[in-house]
Amino acid sequence: MRERCFGEEELGNLREVIASGQLWRGTEDRFVSRFEDAFGRHAGPKYVLALNSGTSADETALAGLGLEPGDEVICPAAAPIFVSLPVVALGCIPVFADVDPRTLIISAEAIEACVTPRTRAVVVVHLHGQPAPMDEITAVAERHDLKVVEDCAQAFDCCHQGRTVGTIGDVACFSLQQSKHITSGEGGIVATDDPDIYKRAMLYANCGMPWYRYGLEAPGAEAVAGLATRGHLAFGHNYRMSELQGAVALAQLEKIGEFNARRKEHVGIVESELADVDGVELAYVYPDTQPN
Ligand SMILES: Cc1ncc(COP(=O)(O)O)c(C=O)c1O
Repeated sequence: MRERCFGEEELGNLREVIASGQLWRGTEDRFVSRFEDAFGRHAGPKYVLALNSGTSADETALAGLGLEPGDEVICPAAAPIFVSLPVVALGCIPVFADVDPRTLIISAEAIEACVTPRTRAVVVVHLHGQPAPMDEITAVAERHDLKVVEDCAQAFDCCHQGRTVGTIGDVACFSLQQSKHITSGEGGIVATDDPDIYKRAMLYANCGMPWYRYGLEAPGAEAVAGLATRGHLAFGHNYRMSELQGAVALAQLEKIGEFNARRKEHVGIVESELADVDGVELAYVYPDTQPN
């Protein structure tokens, strides 16, 4: 097996899923639910929704905010396309704010310069494991009543001023694609402390079906204008994570400390090799932040 850190833990979980005969998530508490609970304990947010990709997670996080078509969402001008495509998918308008040339991370001043009466939210990308200056960004967001989405696809276990990124804005999204800190091949996570964001996100990513966890009550059929329904309360896609992905993701999460330590070691080697190379400048790190 290649050194990408897959082993007996992943295989054991996968065997259990195959032996169970149930590969989709369904409504029972199995690997995907266990992964959600473990991720919440690890990263901090109260409500966690595991999905089939990071791009789905970006879109679902935005849907969780209850945006309307035509709303403007500020995005970094330099970021993977997965950040702005979900804005378009929701019928909203991405407005590109410039980035800090030292880090390629969106800056608070650039966000403020893009605000119009139609701006509802900003997506902050913690790029390459580098936390954004969330103190300055949340100050601008509060001033203009903007929701803040933290895209942590490339930033697990990073801190800014003592807080883990993904717990600072209104909602966070993560990717579990092959190149990320931990992976299930493809996969994504939405995480928030706000039960309303979680509920809207669940409906959006689960074809409108309210499979809420964490003790949140689904409305009965009578709450939907008296109509008998099969439980589809809103428009939505099927962005669910499968049990096969959940099995691998859970095993990977249990090893994240080990991966982080190795990553740190490798970054140290690269940085020390580059330190004396003419014309190469190492990325700036904002004060009181812990990249990963
Ligand atoms: C910052 C960022 N956001 C979102 C995504 C989308 O994640 P996925 O590839 O899992 O769809 C990625 C990359 O993969 C990313 O780097």
